Amino acid sequence: MPDTQSYLDIEGGHRLNGEIPIYGAKNACLPIMAATLLARGASHIENVPRLSDVFTLAEVLKSLGAKVRWTGDHSLEIDTTDVTCLEPDPELVNKMRASVLVMGPLFARFGQAMIPMPGGCSLGKRPIDLHLFGMEALGGTIIENCNNVVVKNTKAGRVQGNEMELRFPSVGATENIMMAASLAEGTTTIRNAAREPEIMDLAHILTSMGAKVVGAGEYVITIIGTPELRPADHRVIPDRIEAGTYMVAGAMTGGKITLLDVCPDHMTATVEHLTRAGCSVTTDIDRITVESPDIIRPTDIRTLPYPGFATDIQPQFMALMTKAPGQSLFVEKIFERRFLAADELKRMGSDIRVLENCALVNGGQKLKACEVTAPDIRAAAALVIAALWAEGSTRISGLVHLNRGYEDPVEKLTNVGARITGHSPNRINHKEARVFK
Ligand code: EPZ
Repeated sequence: MPDTQSYLDIEGGHRLNGEIPIYGAKNACLPIMAATLLARGASHIENVPRLSDVFTLAEVLKSLGAKVRWTGDHSLEIDTTDVTCLEPDPELVNKMRASVLVMGPLFARFGQAMIPMPGGCSLGKRPIDLHLFGMEALGGTIIENCNNVVVKNTKAGRVQGNEMELRFPSVGATENIMMAASLAEGTTTIRNAAREPEIMDLAHILTSMGAKVVGAGEYVITIIGTPELRPADHRVIPDRIEAGTYMVAGAMTGGKITLLDVCPDHMTATVEHLTRAGCSVTTDIDRITVESPDIIRPTDIRTLPYPGFATDIQPQFMALMTKAPGQSLFVEKIFERRFLAADELKRMGSDIRVLENCALVNGGQKLKACEVTAPDIRAAAALVIAALWAEGSTRISGLVHLNRGYEDPVEKLTNVGARITGHSPNRINHKEARVFK
C-alpha cells in the first residue's frame, strides 16, 4: 500500500550552501550486520546509519535468535550466542531484499539456511541465482519450493572451498559467497567479483573476525577458510551514495555544498560527471566541496559496476539533467527498470523519453511543483532534488522509501538552506528505533 500518510512539502528556488555530515554506508552496514552471524558472541558496529533498512535487518537477526541493541546514537551490538533459527521471518525478507544476505552465514555456520524467495521490486525481477550458484559451488544442495529456497550442506563437516566465476559481478552474491567461504574447508576464489567499496568493508570485518581474505576490491577475491571466527568491532565506511545524492542536490540549486566524513576515493565517477556538468569539485582527505554554476551542462550517463557510475545515483542525476539545456542520454546497465523517477519528473514538466534501458532527457525548462509519489529509495531522492529547484511547493508522498535509504534528510537539507516541511505519522525516530533494547 502506498504510504500516503507521510509527505514532504518542498518550496523550490532556495540555493543550498553549507556543510552536510555523511553517515555510515547502508550498503556496507547490511552485509556487515549479516556477517556477525558467522561467529558466536557479541560484535560491535560503529557509524551505523539510523534508517529503516537497518532496522529491518536488525529485526531479521532477532527473528533468528540474535540480540540486537543500540549502544549509542550510531552504534549497534549484535550478540549471536543464541541464534538457533535458520529461517528468517518471511515478512521481513519480503520487506527488504538485502535480508538474503543471511543465507551465506547461516549455511556456513549451521549447515543450512531457508530463505523465503525475495520478491521483485520496483527495479525489476531481482533474482538470486548467482547467490545460489555460489552456495552450490561451496557444496550446498539447493531445494527450491514455491515460496522459499533451502540451502543445505548434505555432506558431513564444513562447507567446501572452491573456485568459481560469476557471470555478472553481483554485489550481494559476492558478499554471500565471501561470508560462507570464510568458514569453508580449503580455499575459495571468486572471479569476476563485485569490486564496490562495500565489498572491501565486508572483507575488513571478516579479517577482524579471523578470516583470510585477499583481493577484495579487485577482479579476483581469494578466501582461505577457517574452522571458527570470532566476534569483532568494526566501523562502517561512509555512504558514497548518500554523499553523491547531496552533491547532486547542491548542483541542482547552484549552491556550494561541503560533505563531511566522506571517502573521496569512493566517488571518482560521481565527481567526474559533476565536473563534466560544469561543477567545480574540490576534495580533501575526508571532505568534498561542490560549487555549482547556474547553467548546468548536459551530460550523458552510463551506469556500470564499480568503479563505473553508480546506478544508485542515476535517478538523482536525471533530476539534475532536467535543468541542463540540451540532451542528456542515460543508459542503465545494472537493473531492468530504473527509470521510475522519470514518470514523476515528467509530471513536473520535464521532457524525458524512455525506451527500454535508455532515457533521453531534453533539459533546460524550469520544473513546476506538483504532487508526486516516490516509487523507490533513489527515485525518492531524485524527486526531492527536483523539488528543490522547481517553481512553487512540491508535495512528495511515499516517504517510506526515502526513510529506507537516508537518515534525517529533511534536517540535513534544511540546515543548508532548503525550505521543507514534513508530515510523517509513522516516521521512525531515534526514540522509536531504540525499541530493540
Ligand atoms: C546492491 O544490490 C545494492 N544493495 C543496491 O543498492 C545496488 O543498486 C546494487 O548492489 C548494484 O550496485 C545493497 O547493497 C543492499 P546486484 P544487489 O546483485 O546486491 C542481477 C540501493 O538503492 N542479479 O549487484 O541486489 C540483478 O537483477 C540499492 O541502495 C542476478 O541476475 O545488486 C541486477 O540486475 C538498490 N542474479 C544486477 O544483477 C543474482 O543472483 C545487479 O544486482 C543477483 C543479481
